[in-house]
Amino acid sequence: MNPLALFVDVRDRLCLVVGAGLVAGRKIEALLQANARVRVIAPEAQPAILEHAQEGRLEYLEREAEEKDLEGVFLLIVASNNAKLNERLTKLARERNILVNAAHQAKAGNVLLPSVIHRDPIQVAISTGGASPMLGRLLRDQLESVIPGGFGRLAALVENSRARMREAFGERRLRRRFWEAILNGPIAEQVLGGQEDEAQIALAAAIERGVVPSAGEVYLVGAGPGDPDLLTFRAQRLIRQADVVVYDRLVSEPIMALLRQDVEKIYAGKERDRHAIAQESINHLLVRLAQEGKRVLRLKGGDPMVFGRGGEEIATLMEEGIAFQIVPGITAANGCASYAGIPLTHRDYAQACIFVTGHLKDGSVNLNWEMLAHSNQTLVFYMGLAGCPEICRQLIQHGLAGDTPAALITRGTTPQQQVFTGTLQDLPELITARDVAPPTLIVVGEVVRLREQLRWYQTDSDVQAEPTATETLTDAP
Ligand SMILES: C[S@@+](CC[C@H](N)C(=O)[O-])C[C@H]1O[C@@H](n2cnc3c(N)ncnc32)[C@H](O)[C@@H]1O
Repeated sequence: MNPLALFVDVRDRLCLVVGAGLVAGRKIEALLQANARVRVIAPEAQPAILEHAQEGRLEYLEREAEEKDLEGVFLLIVASNNAKLNERLTKLARERNILVNAAHQAKAGNVLLPSVIHRDPIQVAISTGGASPMLGRLLRDQLESVIPGGFGRLAALVENSRARMREAFGERRLRRRFWEAILNGPIAEQVLGGQEDEAQIALAAAIERGVVPSAGEVYLVGAGPGDPDLLTFRAQRLIRQADVVVYDRLVSEPIMALLRQDVEKIYAGKERDRHAIAQESINHLLVRLAQEGKRVLRLKGGDPMVFGRGGEEIATLMEEGIAFQIVPGITAANGCASYAGIPLTHRDYAQACIFVTGHLKDGSVNLNWEMLAHSNQTLVFYMGLAGCPEICRQLIQHGLAGDTPAALITRGTTPQQQVFTGTLQDLPELITARDVAPPTLIVVGEVVRLREQLRWYQTDSDVQAEPTATETLTDAP
């Protein structure tokens, strides 16, 4: 079969489905989504199909289908377990010029139902010509992750402006160039990033002036704690399309490897007390690069809004009128705790979780210790390695027991992850004895005990790291 790809309007047309099992169920969902008038005939049906019938979304006839049921049918789908019935109805339908999809024997029918990616009003249909529907679904799942969720909104933006575009640009060639620039530039990114009103205004202005706005924009993207598989779909897309990247030390090598070969890379540092570029200079650098018309990727470890100074960077962008969007990332606390098998909250042991900086502006650890030194909560200290002795001393002094469980998680979520468990009392010693280096996260609270039961992610370095003061904690609840 070498079929023609066709989208058919089945609104209010009678579509008959013979069979009501799982395969029929999938086809019925597609028909309902296309607002077809659906009739299902089968001696028994899946609960989901019965539910649709009860809700009046389709008509269900509880019996075997017969020839007379083909009367008035626009599209027939045969998907019953009765091969002879399927074959007979397919033949009869074809003789009557009824469109027929034979679910279990695609080539017997004359219509294939493809796997579809929906980005309303856009639909991407995948057909394997009946060779392997499973392969079609696999391909669809892969494409789902690369076609942005807001792609349909982009189509709506284009549709709403087409008439104005035709008036403004008589020549078809100019129109095409204009649209290409719009759909690859900041206006399209605004739509995908959920800033549709701003995009509408910018597009109207661009059409009126007949000038495509400069492509300059900034993507403030959270790269997560290290494992590239933890990037969001949007982060992956923006990483691929940037012209220049301004990145921090914490962005892992496998994530840097995702950048295009020709991308300009600027290291912004952020090592403790050794910032390669001062924060204010980074803010202005982003503005300057965007003003040069570049798509600037500001790539940060973890989440840009958690101890990431993302707020300061976007404040400067806003002041300078630079288009930007923020893409959240998995913050170190979430990523490291999950990969270490330590739940941050637990019904019995921790009803709250506090993310705390262990490194304050003037270099001292000056926190509200009364608020922090409570049982039944988990404390997660970022940048706390150097201040760890002081942190432990203060927590004990303010009421936490010296044997409160604590963990150090180094290079969490990466193949170099190491987890050291101990107590508030012995944590500073552990750091020296084990030569623990940054980036390290400190987790304090009863939840740390649960690692004994819940650990799942193992690396070679993690295995070596384990025989520590944990012995004191083996009486896990
Ligand atoms: C400046 S903060 C940045 C936090 C980041 N914005 C986030 O949301 O994870 C840097 C600190 O995060 C922690 N950190 C970040 N990534 C880590 C990782 N993979 N393993 C352990 N700690 C990490 C360390 O405590 C490090 O000193």
